[in-house]
Amino acid sequence: MSVWSFAGKRVVIAGCATGMGEATARELVRLGAELHGFDIRPSAVEMASFHPIDLSSPDSIATAVASLGGEIDALFNCAGLPQTFPAEAVMKVNFIGLRHWTEQWLPRIRKGGSVSSITSTAGFAWSQHLPEIMELLATPDFASAEAWVAAHPDLVGDGYGFSKEVATVWTMMMGARTIKQGVRINCICPGPTQTPMMNDFEEVAGATMIDVFTLPIERRSTPAEQAYPLIFLGSDAASYINGHALNVDGGFVGAVATGQIDVAAEVGKVLASN
Ligand SMILES: NC(=O)c1ccc[n+]([C@@H]2O[C@H](COP(=O)([O-])OP(=O)(O)OC[C@H]3O[C@@H](n4cnc5c(N)ncnc54)[C@H](O)[C@@H]3O)[C@@H](O)[C@H]2O)c1
Repeated sequence: MSVWSFAGKRVVIAGCATGMGEATARELVRLGAELHGFDIRPSAVEMASFHPIDLSSPDSIATAVASLGGEIDALFNCAGLPQTFPAEAVMKVNFIGLRHWTEQWLPRIRKGGSVSSITSTAGFAWSQHLPEIMELLATPDFASAEAWVAAHPDLVGDGYGFSKEVATVWTMMMGARTIKQGVRINCICPGPTQTPMMNDFEEVAGATMIDVFTLPIERRSTPAEQAYPLIFLGSDAASYINGHALNVDGGFVGAVATGQIDVAAEVGKVLASN
């Protein structure tokens, strides 16, 4: 059996209606997975089953998880909301619901299995808020995380960047825990990607501001270019990769870290030209 294949594997994906999740679902089916999809909207991808879910609601998560019995080999988390939605909704879908949903599946993921999520390069400054993020990660459940978010409006801001910082750090932290049951957990941090969500980002920031985050590659990613590395992380080919946040950003974060891109200066140039 090829380490790249998903033949014979039972796989669950959340967020399979559009964008990167849809591209991931199509490729997983092509690779032979028995794929079970979950989303707030229907998906055009032909899968073994489809189940509605609203990741911002613990009741909906409970109903959805109960609607598919048995064990699974891999979980892919591709759902998300942009900052055109209220900050509490963004925090719920992008982190609080993601965590709660994943925790429901963990006891049912077989040894040798994996969890692979999409966070974002929008969370690349997570180290600046690590003490606060660890405080949020210490909340035991959905309700207490919601209360923590409500009590920290300045830090949470519009919810997008902070939710991605938290989801990235949570993935890194969870690696040391899930591996004790033989399950790896990782995430990709995509740069700007041409999906339906891009319309929302352009509405908030403007296309020229988004171009700053496509330096140095000078183009946006396609959804498939994010699906392939995400699927790799969830495959047996990545069996020693755990607790890792993989930048899939055309070189942006590396160029910032090595002083080749000055984000503040680039943002300043865009603001001055507006
Ligand atoms: N597009 C980008 O430039 C970009 C960059 C970095 C990270 N991301 C992240 O990538 C992930 C995928 O986004 P995308 O760009 O493919 O956008 P998208 O809007 O096409 O996909 C989001 C998916 O999440 C689903 N969803 C939304 N709310 C939900 C809810 N309450 N419950 C269940 N499902 C819900 C949608 O129906 C859709 O299938 C998101 O987490 C997003 O934040 C996007």
